[in-house]
Amino acid sequence: MNDFINKLPPKVILWGGTGQAKVVRPIIEYCGSKVVAVFDDTPNLPPPFPDVPLYLGWAGFQEWIQVQPRREEIGFCIAIGNPHGRVRLRFQERLMAEGLQPVTIAHPTATIAENAVIGVGCQFMAGAIVNPEARIGQQCIINTKASVDHECVLEDGCEVAPGATLCGIVHLGVNVWIGAGATILSRIRVGEDAIVGAGAVVIQDVPAATTVVGVPAKPI
Ligand SMILES: CC(C)(COP(=O)(O)OP(=O)(O)OC[C@H]1O[C@@H](n2cnc3c(N)ncnc32)[C@H](O)[C@@H]1OP(=O)(O)O)[C@@H](O)C(=O)NCCC(=O)NCCS
Repeated sequence: MNDFINKLPPKVILWGGTGQAKVVRPIIEYCGSKVVAVFDDTPNLPPPFPDVPLYLGWAGFQEWIQVQPRREEIGFCIAIGNPHGRVRLRFQERLMAEGLQPVTIAHPTATIAENAVIGVGCQFMAGAIVNPEARIGQQCIINTKASVDHECVLEDGCEVAPGATLCGIVHLGVNVWIGAGATILSRIRVGEDAIVGAGAVVIQDVPAATTVVGVPAKPI
């Protein structure tokens, strides 16, 4: 079902030139593709790699893409972590409109159940686990050693940070960010744009656009 994961075109660009870029590049290259350019909106950003050119913003992208011969052979990976899931979704639309294809990548140590449903543009980092019948939207990041258990639903643009645990049948709305090491108990619903702080234990539903922290998690 998820045959498109790690099926990458020969060339891939990264949007975002900081830490996430450094984590996704080895996965892309493990898949046999080459990272050919990095784009970032931040002026004077130190380039993340000495051997890959860094361009500034959409203007830099326009200049670069104009001289590329075959756009259909170029994929993109949006290397921007949360709480910027909506930014990832916007860039996905813009880059697809330019004829580039989103890549969906999984580190070789990530485990994704055969019958999990995975959206395009997702990133599964080292040791990530996605269990049966989970449904993961577009442009989600399941970070290092994070786990998403059976029948969880993640809408588009979510990130589950390193070491966080979603127990079974958890529902995350669009652009939810679960902080490092947090635990969300079974059947909990977390509303869109909500943030769960690092280390929190969430035992009741979280309303949209609310940040919760602590054990048990409470709004701040
Ligand atoms: C929850 C979070 C987003 C809040 O950030 P913020 O809005 O900047 O909040 P502040 O740092 O101003 O903290 C506000 C209050 O919440 C407390 N707080 C913040 N994060 C907390 C956490 N994870 N657990 C417990 N308390 C926390 C602070 O101590 C502070 O308390 P005070 O008002 O009594 O002094 C952030 O602290 C966090 O946990 N981010 C997740 C980081 C992460 O997992 N990154 C992964 C990268 S891959």
